[in-house]
Amino acid sequence: MTPALPETDAKRRADAWTALEAIARRDRDVRIETLFEAEPDRVERLTLEAAGLWLDLSKQAFTREGLEACLALADACDVPAWKRALFGGAAVNDTEGRAVLHPALRAPDGAHFEALGEPVSREVEQVRDQMVAFAEAIRSGEHAGATGARFRAVVHVGIGGSDLGPRLVWDALRPVDPEVDVRFVANIDPREMAEALSGLDPASTLVIVVSKTFTTQETLANAALARDWLAAALPAEGLRRHLVGVSAAPDRAEAFGCGRVFGFSDWVGGRYSLWSAVSLSCVIGLGGEAFRDLLAGAADMDRHTLETPPGWNAPVLMALAEIYNVEGLERRARTVAPYAHGLRRLPAFLQQLEMESNGKGVVRDGQAVAHGTGPVVFGEPGTNGQHAFFQQLHQGPEAVPADFIVVRETMPGVDGAPLWSNALAQAEALMRGRNTAEAREGMIADGLDPAEADRLAPHRTFPGNRPSTTVVMDRLTPHALGALLALYEHKTFVEGVIWNINSFDQWGVELGKVMAKRVLAAAHEKRAPQMWDPSTRSLFDRLA
Ligand code: F6P
Repeated sequence: MTPALPETDAKRRADAWTALEAIARRDRDVRIETLFEAEPDRVERLTLEAAGLWLDLSKQAFTREGLEACLALADACDVPAWKRALFGGAAVNDTEGRAVLHPALRAPDGAHFEALGEPVSREVEQVRDQMVAFAEAIRSGEHAGATGARFRAVVHVGIGGSDLGPRLVWDALRPVDPEVDVRFVANIDPREMAEALSGLDPASTLVIVVSKTFTTQETLANAALARDWLAAALPAEGLRRHLVGVSAAPDRAEAFGCGRVFGFSDWVGGRYSLWSAVSLSCVIGLGGEAFRDLLAGAADMDRHTLETPPGWNAPVLMALAEIYNVEGLERRARTVAPYAHGLRRLPAFLQQLEMESNGKGVVRDGQAVAHGTGPVVFGEPGTNGQHAFFQQLHQGPEAVPADFIVVRETMPGVDGAPLWSNALAQAEALMRGRNTAEAREGMIADGLDPAEADRLAPHRTFPGNRPSTTVVMDRLTPHALGALLALYEHKTFVEGVIWNINSFDQWGVELGKVMAKRVLAAAHEKRAPQMWDPSTRSLFDRLA
């Protein structure tokens, strides 16, 4: 039987929102650094361990009562019941009538997940085993190319959720000198494919086409380019050995010419799919054991989110901090600063995860949202971002909350302090700031003329009071990465529950796709339809 979705008491939810807003208004000007004295147990209450990650939310803006109001809101929104609905395979994606079961992909063997009442775990395990076996056969040379040459390179073709997760996993976990060269192509700009293929030998290159729908314009165009490149150099009868598909529409992948196809189900959202065969390229590059460790890290976070009370629950607390910042303090953007070169694509991954999931304007019943929803997410790896947009984070008139992701040791045996000390310093500087008197005194102590110090002091003042969360891991292992990505997935879901939106559809990407088809058709005909607006027509005339 298909489990039902929770029925939330609308009045209770509305009252909880009102209570939260009142406290946020009251505490709006409270300085975060004063809370450590006012709430002596603050660090103890707001630091926690989850699936091997260490989180510190004590530099967030909510006061004790603010957090209590947030927790009451989570309770009024039935967060635990919604989590059970998701893990229980209910139609949580109710605009598409689908279950949302990415946790089933990373569950240990022997699990019993059901999607809309149908068992799925056995099939998940079978595909996973086949995929890992295939990857190991490529790694060992047992499965070779059309000419008998061992595969030395993988070109992964996909976009959005079929690109960002695997690309991040590869960047984060790849050896410095990998045995298999894994390259990614997403953009329909042929330049990206040209760069990816540069220097590769078709005889030793495997092309993996990843697309849930196998209808995505960019991916099909790039896949055709790669297939042509292979076909120009290889015997026709061996071409299929070099083409692998990963898709929820396996027939289309086969029809395209893929000799091997790994499937996944429609209950896996594109941006939640890295736990499936979508990461085949990474499994070839890293090995099956690393992939299983990645899944185990995520599964540990799944257990944490299901079993830990809300006040100690990492995804819940991160979601509540965001909701307090967005709703209570009207902070509509958040920056993510990973202090690890391997996590440089994390901001891009989170942009899709969070903005495609929660960038919505209507609640589940179709009414316009009454609250701000997902913020704009942006970021760059530390320390690079510090030398670019951090100026605005420190002194711009809008406060932007930050997530600092800190890896204690990014290279085995090499002191990580020069990197992580920057993260701690930035978080503290954002919170404390520096008032005008301090700025002035500092300059005078450095020997500046008092009149010049007066003139410069406002420019060297930092308002501070900018909240942040810090997530710490010892090393960027597959387990830690899996836990981190699952943490953000669950945070995103909890936010969606509280905002009462469906985090698992993405209708907002459709209109542009339809328009793009029309523009391309017009470009082929070299004629812009009269009905277009004058601006688009004039741009078309300039380009066509
Ligand atoms: O256009 C957005 C989107 O549908 C994403 O949700 C998805 O991850 C991406 O395109 C790629 O889709 P597919 O895997 O079907 O090629």
